[in-house]
Order: sequence, then structure tokens, then C-alpha cells
Amino acid sequence: MRAGIWGAGNIAEVHGAALAGAGVELAAVVDTDGRRAEAFARRYGALRHGTDPDLLFSGGLDAVHVCTPPNLHFGMVSRLIDAGIPVLCEKPLCLTGAQAYELAVKARRAHVPNAVNFNLRYHQALVRAREMVSDGAFGPVRLVHGSYLQEFHAFPAPYGWRYDEALAGKMRAVTEIGTHWFDIAQQVSGHTIQSVSAVFGRHDPVRLLGGDGMMKGGPDLSGNGVQVGKGARLGDGGTADPIVDSLGDGSDTARGLDAMVSGESSPAWRKVRVDSEDSALITMRMDGGALASVVLCETSHGRSNRLSLEVTGRDQSLWWDSEDIGKLHGARKGTGVNTQLFAFGNNGFADSFRALVAAFYEALAAGAGKPEPGKPSGATAKDGAVGDSEPVMAHTGHTLPDFMQAARIAAICDAVYESALADGAWVEVEAFKGDIEEKT
Ligand SMILES: NC(=O)c1ccc[n+]([C@@H]2O[C@H](COP(=O)([O-])OP(=O)(O)OC[C@H]3O[C@@H](n4cnc5c(N)ncnc54)[C@H](O)[C@@H]3O)[C@@H](O)[C@H]2O)c1
Repeated sequence: MRAGIWGAGNIAEVHGAALAGAGVELAAVVDTDGRRAEAFARRYGALRHGTDPDLLFSGGLDAVHVCTPPNLHFGMVSRLIDAGIPVLCEKPLCLTGAQAYELAVKARRAHVPNAVNFNLRYHQALVRAREMVSDGAFGPVRLVHGSYLQEFHAFPAPYGWRYDEALAGKMRAVTEIGTHWFDIAQQVSGHTIQSVSAVFGRHDPVRLLGGDGMMKGGPDLSGNGVQVGKGARLGDGGTADPIVDSLGDGSDTARGLDAMVSGESSPAWRKVRVDSEDSALITMRMDGGALASVVLCETSHGRSNRLSLEVTGRDQSLWWDSEDIGKLHGARKGTGVNTQLFAFGNNGFADSFRALVAAFYEALAAGAGKPEPGKPSGATAKDGAVGDSEPVMAHTGHTLPDFMQAARIAAICDAVYESALADGAWVEVEAFKGDIEEKT
């Protein structure tokens, strides 16, 4: 099989390694930064590289991995579906549930195999956790809770697209890390999130950006402080230049930021306005009556990548966290804690990528996208309702997170945002027409 990569930044490196691990040839790499595409192509042995997306459409590729910032996903994925090219897109699939659903519908109707990189569900311990919950001995799920904590955005923090609404959307913690937690909470529990109540914290609305591209906070900045609840966005409009002021020569604009960040260091400090949330506290109701809650934070010092999940059933509980990734704990009252060890195999961040990428190409090899004989397809179903069709990957037996599942997660994000704007009011997650429960 031959793959292409669209966007050769940080996460594309993990895709490149995963493709090599799955025995898939990387044939083409496209990035707006031609030198980056070339260096990437050299590292992974791709013969074609450059800035022209046509490289991805003209080479007879079996699939393309979309690894660009989120605002670009909709247009790029749409184009790939139109060309009939299977897509593995980075999360979040889109910036709104409506857009994500549009892509899901389009892909189903066109029978184009698709997946979104919710790689964490492929950790061995979480695959086992799902098996334990679906075993009748666990009992019905009553409570799901956990957290996703990272320190990447604690000061000093590099400025980048994640702080720019035009590229990353209105949210940050929720879309960057919350989406992963929603996915594993639903996947492991076997239940879907139906309604949410959320409050946000935007820890430092005004930050100082140095000539080296790093941000810091400071007591000299007015208007700062932890703000939770009212006014999720807390900013004042979505189109304003995120660079609100210059403490230096005053000549740089947001447009010049890239050059400034990547260029020679400048002694100037500029004020940057940040509208998105650093932290979120979210309470959820799931189908089947379970409650759920999660704490998300991008500025948790010392937490490089800590994701935790605990599921309480009527008869058993289980819990796991990514700092102790190879251990899954289970318990039943009065019988102590039973810890299963996953000492071999799929135990790290990159391993979960490898497992997802391998599953995606196995599904393609197994004929994903070709309608199953005897089953109505989305394209031919009465009135064209997508809900009448099987998911594109279904008959291959894979549990890949497809676009329809990603659309539900995008809808959860929409509801979280709406709730935070309304100071934690309960908001129903939109159930799209044709949304099929895809519990695995
Ligand atoms: N699954 C995960 O655990 C995980 C982890 C990190 C990031 N991500 C996701 O991966 C995506 C990319 O994140 P990243 O950290 O790699 O960002 P990044 O900034 O490191 O890389 C993005 C790349 O896209 C390129 N690019 C931008 N616009 C482009 C265009 N129009 N055409 C072609 N290339 C373009 C940039 O030059 C850059 O090389 C995001 O959606 C992010 O949320 C997922």
C-alpha cells in the first residue's frame, strides 16, 4: 500500500513511523513549508514531496493522512473524499459538529473509508478495559470519571496555532485533549455522552510573547486571573488580531508572527490575547443513566501527558492512567484490587498510533469502503438517509473511530462550549440524523 501525508509537522512524525511499522510505503509528503516536506520525505523515504497538494491526488495513493491544524481539515478531507481517496485524519475532525457530520455523511455516501486518529483507545490496557466492562460480571456502568492533564501550555510556553482561533477554533483544552478523553470514556464504558455542564478557566488572558516565540505571564499584565464560568470565550470578538499590543518596536503584526517566531530573536515583548480555555471542568450524563466527569488542564506542571479513567459498575470497578500505562486495576468489593500488567507490546503513545494505523490499513486490505453484498448502502438507501447504511468500516470487523464517531465527539465539544458560555447550564449533545450507535 502507498500513503501520503498532508502536513509534515510534529504529529506527522508519529504517522511516518507508524506507516513504516505497518509496512506501508510513504509515497508523497505535502506541506506549505517545502523544506519541511523535503526533510520529512528524506527521513521516511518518500520520493515525492513539495507544497502542491496535487502530489497527493495524482499518484494513485491508497490513503492520505491529514496532519494539519484543525481549521484545514474540513476542506482537505472534503477534497480527498471527492477524489475517492481513503482518509485518516488527525483529531479533531472539524471545528463544529455540523461540519464533521457533513464529512461523515459525504464519506459514507461515497463509500470512502475513513478514520480519525483517536489513537488512545488502542492502548492494550484500554482495549482490555473495554472487554471487562462488556463482560456481564462488571454490571451496568454507574459512573465514569477522570482527567487529562498536560503541562505544555504552562509558562514558558511556545506560541503557535493552538492559540489562534482562526486555526484552532474557539477552544483549546477541550478540542486538543478533551476529545481524546471523550473518546475513551465512551469507548470503554460502551455509553455515549448525552448532555454536559461545563465551566472554563482561562488562566492568563493576556500573555507576554518574547522574540524567541515563548510566552510568559507576569504581574505587570492587567486583567489577568483565573476566570471560571461566565463567558467561556471571555474575549471580545473572533476576528481581532491576537497580538493586542507591542512593547517593542510596534511594527509586528500577527501576520509577521511566524517570521518573528522562527527568525532571529528580538528583544521585544509583545502582549498576546488568549481567548481559549486552559482548563475545563465538565460534568456529563450518559445514555443508560451513568454520570461522568472530567478535569482538563493544559497547564498542569509536571504532568507531561496524564490521562486517567475510572469506571464504576454495579458489581466491579476499573481504573487506569497513562503515567502507569501498562497497569490496569480492577476490583470487586471485599476481594482486593486485581492489577493486570501489560509488559509487552502496545504500551506507549507511539504504539497506540501504530496499532490504529495498522488497523486502518488492514481494514483497507479487507475491503473497507466496498458495500457489503446484500446490504443497503447509504448511496442507495430509501430517501438517501445515511442512517440506513452500515459504517464504511463495519464489515471489516475493525473498531476504528470513523468520521461518524468523530462527528459525535465534535458535537460534544459544541455542547461543552455552549454550556460554558451559559455558566455551566446543562446542554444536550446534538444527535445527528442518521447517527448510528457504533459501540464495539
Ligand atoms: N492524536 C494525537 O494525539 C495528536 C497529538 C498532537 C497533535 N494532534 C493533531 O494533529 C494536528 C496537527 O498538529 P501538530 O502538532 O502536528 O501541528 P504542527 O504545527 O506541528 O504541524 C502542522 C503542519 O501542517 C503544515 N501546514 C499548515 N497549513 C498547511 C496547508 N495549508 N497545507 C499543507 N500543510 C500545512 C504546517 O507547516 C506544519 O508542518 C492537529 O489537528 C492536532 O490536534 C493529534
